[in-house]
Amino acid sequence: MTGRTRDREVVAAAVIQGRRLLLAQRTRPPELAGLWELPGGKVEPGESPADAVHRELLEELGVEVTVGERIGADVPLRDGLVLRAYRAELIRGTPRALDHAALCWVDARELREIALVGNDRGWLPDLVTLLGG
Ligand code: C5P
Repeated sequence: MTGRTRDREVVAAAVIQGRRLLLAQRTRPPELAGLWELPGGKVEPGESPADAVHRELLEELGVEVTVGERIGADVPLRDGLVLRAYRAELIRGTPRALDHAALCWVDARELREIALVGNDRGWLPDLVTLLGG
């Protein structure tokens, strides 16, 4: 590292199977509980974003994925965090809600109607396109 200030990255995964996207329902904080998101979390120091997607989905969903290309635009969060979405493909396991209230698979029409967390809403057009919607 050069010591220069860099945004710390939060990763989120777009897991798509066929024409459906996997969403996870948050349990916390109270203002976000019940809303749906692309699963993910903070990149740890020394970890690549792809490694973080892999780790987070193992921890949160109990699955292994391969991580693909970035999708959508960066979302600036508080405290120098930046949220980025990546495609991910399931290679092992069936997703379970280990850290969320529930999981669901949505098609393009359902995605447009579901209550997403605000930070993830900007990705809607990109996600709808990926779902062939
Ligand atoms: O899930 P976790 O609390 O580790 O996420 C870190 C931050 O990223 C939180 O502020 C969370 O709201 C945000 N986040 C988000 N959209 C996602 C995943 C995380 O806004 N799909």
